[in-house]
Amino acid sequence: MRKFLSVVMALVMVVGMAFAATSCSSKGYDFDKETELVMVTNAAFPPYESKSGDEFVGIDIDIAKEIAKRLGKTLRIEDVDFNSIITGIETGKYDMALAGMTVTEERKKSVSFSDSYATGIQVMIVRSDSQYQSIDDFFNYDEEGNPVSLKNTDIKIGVQQTTTGDIYSSADVTGWGFNDLNEDESIKTDRVTRYKTGADAVEALKTGKVDVVIIDNEPAKSFVASNTDGSGNSPIRILETEYTNEDYAIAVNKNSTVLLEKINQVLKEMKEDGTLDRIISTYIKAE
Ligand code: ARG
Repeated sequence: MRKFLSVVMALVMVVGMAFAATSCSSKGYDFDKETELVMVTNAAFPPYESKSGDEFVGIDIDIAKEIAKRLGKTLRIEDVDFNSIITGIETGKYDMALAGMTVTEERKKSVSFSDSYATGIQVMIVRSDSQYQSIDDFFNYDEEGNPVSLKNTDIKIGVQQTTTGDIYSSADVTGWGFNDLNEDESIKTDRVTRYKTGADAVEALKTGKVDVVIIDNEPAKSFVASNTDGSGNSPIRILETEYTNEDYAIAVNKNSTVLLEKINQVLKEMKEDGTLDRIISTYIKAE
């Protein structure tokens, strides 16, 4: 599978490079010339981005609107699959990605990240009636507390494709993942099902197709809330244990150096004048 993936990746890279060579957009965002600022996202990730009728709403949407306003640009929002975002930034199809996007070393090879504007936590969602209470219900540990094997090798994990939830859970059991890898790190046993959106993964959890969904904490809370009935019962719940901590940032094309500088400047101002906190607290109520 990994081998096949690397062939596909190589092809994607060749095509990408050919595209970059012929397209002037790979030069990055021309800050003085451009009037429009194109944001790309995957709007199935509340409270960061979702759709209310035809309208985009959420923390990332409001931050992007504020950035565009302060930079004197017209904002356009494009909603695509999460796994098309990085490529779209690399090829210059979109100017900036705000998608609750976690900064990772791997992604840094393809795009530049702004300063972080929020933190995320990967959590595990299970069915309310399941026996799982904490991460310790999944792993057997050695004396040092490192995971060595799974308690239930039939477990099925659901994630949104190519998200950090996918990356972490697809790792080897010894690296806190749920898969068994071969020596060359290709997947021997794949217990992870990759869905187009987080919402699809949650549906699969509710119908018993998977046992656990690994996803960012705020979307997880949103999904639990939207599945809660009038008497406060939800078919799904979040495990107490946090899986990992991460930073969210805005991604831009590697050549968009001026844009990146301007974005960081605006983020700094928005942190200092309270705008960022105000936007976040509109969508995330303190507990
Ligand atoms: N934070 C995770 C990541 O960067 C998930 C982000 C998913 N975002 C979205 N808009 N669907 O991989």
